[in-house]
Amino acid sequence: MKVACVLLAAGKGKRMGSDLPKVILPLCGVPIIFYQLNNLKKLKIPIFVVLGHKREEVERIIPANEVKIVVQKEQLGTAHAVKTAMPAVEEFSHLLILSGDTPMIKSSTIKKLINTAKEGYDCVFLAGEMENPDGYGRVIRKNGFPVAIKEDRHLDSKERKIKEVNMGAYLLRREALSFALSKVKKNEESGEYYLTDVVEILYKNGFKITTVSPSCWWEGVGVNTPYDFYLLTSIAYREGVKNAVRRGAIVLNPDVTYISPFSIVKKAIIRPFVRIDGMSKIENGVEIEEGCIIVDTVIKRNSKIKAYSVIEKSIIAENVSAGPFARLREGTVLKTGSKIGNFVEVKKSIIGENVKAQHLAYIGDAEVGEGTNIGAGTITCNFDGFKKNKTYIGKNVFVGSDVQFIAPVKIGDYAWIGAGSTITKDVPPYALGISRAEQKNIEGYAKRKKRCAE
Ligand code: UD1
Ligand code: CA
Repeated sequence: MKVACVLLAAGKGKRMGSDLPKVILPLCGVPIIFYQLNNLKKLKIPIFVVLGHKREEVERIIPANEVKIVVQKEQLGTAHAVKTAMPAVEEFSHLLILSGDTPMIKSSTIKKLINTAKEGYDCVFLAGEMENPDGYGRVIRKNGFPVAIKEDRHLDSKERKIKEVNMGAYLLRREALSFALSKVKKNEESGEYYLTDVVEILYKNGFKITTVSPSCWWEGVGVNTPYDFYLLTSIAYREGVKNAVRRGAIVLNPDVTYISPFSIVKKAIIRPFVRIDGMSKIENGVEIEEGCIIVDTVIKRNSKIKAYSVIEKSIIAENVSAGPFARLREGTVLKTGSKIGNFVEVKKSIIGENVKAQHLAYIGDAEVGEGTNIGAGTITCNFDGFKKNKTYIGKNVFVGSDVQFIAPVKIGDYAWIGAGSTITKDVPPYALGISRAEQKNIEGYAKRKKRCAE
């Protein structure tokens, strides 16, 4: 059995009311289509994605080397989308057809579809009872066997009572599918070609059809409306929290903790009101205090993120302390033992081992060598009005409070920078860089002022 996946993602997603193609909307910080792509990668199934509406925007985010793209110029329905992909998949005996807008289907459920097809079925599709079946195609059975799928908008009042829905995942023998697709007619009411018509066509022509059901009803939820998106968001975060707890994390209040199912949280302590989004990785012994937002970030062993810190696309090594109220932006690397304190912002910078920047600083486009101390109020002035420039600060440098580094600038190892300095020139190793007006004391000044006022 040689299986390829045709992943349908060309639709407009009218009901979502969003301008973006719905498959790239972020669910827990990860584009919806990535959920299916991830499953398929795990199962090593070649992927053919059908794109159409705003396809450039989808193409921009999907890994070009991992998928082949098929373009459906006009979105004439799911059968039309699959038909468009057929010439590209001729070498495969079976096709797994999935919708890019149904992110929660598990890889074990996809395996179940494949294994059932191996028993000799021409068509296996995923079906199950949904809490609220509105909007979904219903499974029509005769003597218990599936004989057709009827779309929600075409149901009569009796059929509307059917709770068993088509969850939009199919495993079909390619030749059987080809045969059925050639017979699918345009639905006159909607003007679309329905993939779901394939089931009835195959049944009437004596092909073998069956269904399998998922382990959880919500695997079949598609993102069609803002309500679906809300429902899936809470389900996905809950799954993420469960995964973390299964790996040994201590989640102090799971009801107010949000962990993306793509994030891996090991034996860490997660205090309430924390959101861990996207593809983050939190190692053993880490503690994340209240109110932190962590996105696409790696935090290594025994580091502590204190309350209300916001961290994005960063790498934090072992035994680091960051926060409270730290802001670590894209491209931050904090090396082992470094300490980033309150109201410190770091962007695209490498902070060396045991560096301390404990209060009120901005470090952007910089490299700071190990053991350096950054005083309160220090700013790397990285933008000259046209472009970003780099600041290099060597090892074991002592930077006093309230220093501005006018980048590009380079500070040698073991140098000292006097508090309140504006540093525009490189400072050699072991030197003191200082630039400030000499202090004057004006005797009796306050008294004279007072006399004027009288
Ligand atoms: C579809 C099924 C429905 C099922 C539900 C499960 C059909 C006709 N109906 O309905 O029985 O219960 O999924 O989630 O298939 N797409 C294209 N090209 C098109 C149209 C759609 O690529 O011309 C893609 C969409 O981007 C989407 C997928 O196909 O990813 C499904 O389309 P959608 O419009 O969401 O179908 P549903 O109404 O949800
Ligand atoms: Ca859908």
